Amino acid sequence: MKTNIKIIGTVFSLLAFQCCVIEAATNAAAFTPSNPPGMQPLANHNSPAWRAARMFQHGANLGNYLETPPGQNWGITVSADEFAAMKREGFDHVRVPVGWHHYAGAAPDFTLAPEIFSRVDFVVTNALANQLAVMINIHHFDELDKDPAKATAEFLAIWRQIAAHYKDFPDQLVFELDNEPHGKATTALMNPIHARAIAEIRQSNPHRTIVVEPGGWGGIGELKNLILPPDDNVMVSVHCYDPFYFTHQGASWAGPDTKATGIQFPGPPAKPLVPDASLDLKPWVVDWIKKYNTLPADKNPSSPLAFTDKLKFVRAWSDYYGYPVHLGEFGSYTKADPTSRANFYAAFRRAAEAQKIGWCIWDWSAGFRYWDKSNQRPLPGMHAALFGGLN
Ligand code: BGC
Repeated sequence: MKTNIKIIGTVFSLLAFQCCVIEAATNAAAFTPSNPPGMQPLANHNSPAWRAARMFQHGANLGNYLETPPGQNWGITVSADEFAAMKREGFDHVRVPVGWHHYAGAAPDFTLAPEIFSRVDFVVTNALANQLAVMINIHHFDELDKDPAKATAEFLAIWRQIAAHYKDFPDQLVFELDNEPHGKATTALMNPIHARAIAEIRQSNPHRTIVVEPGGWGGIGELKNLILPPDDNVMVSVHCYDPFYFTHQGASWAGPDTKATGIQFPGPPAKPLVPDASLDLKPWVVDWIKKYNTLPADKNPSSPLAFTDKLKFVRAWSDYYGYPVHLGEFGSYTKADPTSRANFYAAFRRAAEAQKIGWCIWDWSAGFRYWDKSNQRPLPGMHAALFGGLN
């Protein structure tokens, strides 16, 4: 909403500020801090990081595009006018997964090939030209997840080069250190490595917003293990794909537990789902499906119950520790039926907005897509799901 009447704006801001303070106090009162003592709360909630977070409210991930290894094509092309379409749809930012490590030369310099810079530049400059804020990251850096200590030198060298390349870009460009640390890259192990990467980036980008994900695939449950440097331009990002058996149904990369398809959102379904016996589902999946088939809407596992409390925790954690938190990925694979997908995206983004958490859908035009390239329109129901109004 835009208004030119300054006084209304000021009164509104004061009221909004008071509401935030009251709400923050309420959340913080119910919250029990449990991070290690090294994690010191930051008091200023109007720091550069909090101001940056306001630019990252409604985003889309440009998935399956720049994170692919050289020579591989995962079926995604992106044209310059798609950034205008993103902006028109209502998005304010784009998160860009990038597989920089695939383009790194040998140790000790790990020199990045110019090709990857020119591909990322194309995305970054077109996004910025369309008033979209941009978050670039290192995505699928498997070596870091397998052996963080061994891959640290390369991780730091990659960030040194990215930081130097983009040092004069506007503040609307932010750096996310690494996507979904997992495996050996536990939060505890990554805390000091992330701190070193932040220090490295700060050499050339003293004012750039830097985004850190906890371990456990950017898990909300891992926030409690974070230790961040007291840098007032650091944002945290988490991912949430709950309810997982709904969002990842039929996703071959997500393992055997997601083989059952036909799961709707919200449950229960009008006609119970009877998965094919040949799927040989594990007892916990069978149990989940039983609950999905039988429990009423307010207790059903395929419902906002799967994420509402988690998002409340994110908000309370963020208020207490003083670092803004962004929800960098949520979404549902296109194997789910279109109505359920739209219901899910609508419910999730409402729950995120209720907690004042900026969100970023997975993804723009790939397997969890919003945008239908074949007719240059959003998939049915998706615009209304994310931005309200008619589709
Ligand atoms: C991965 C994608 C995957 C998505 C949902 C992302 O973090 O990079 O490859 O499709 O999560 O599982």
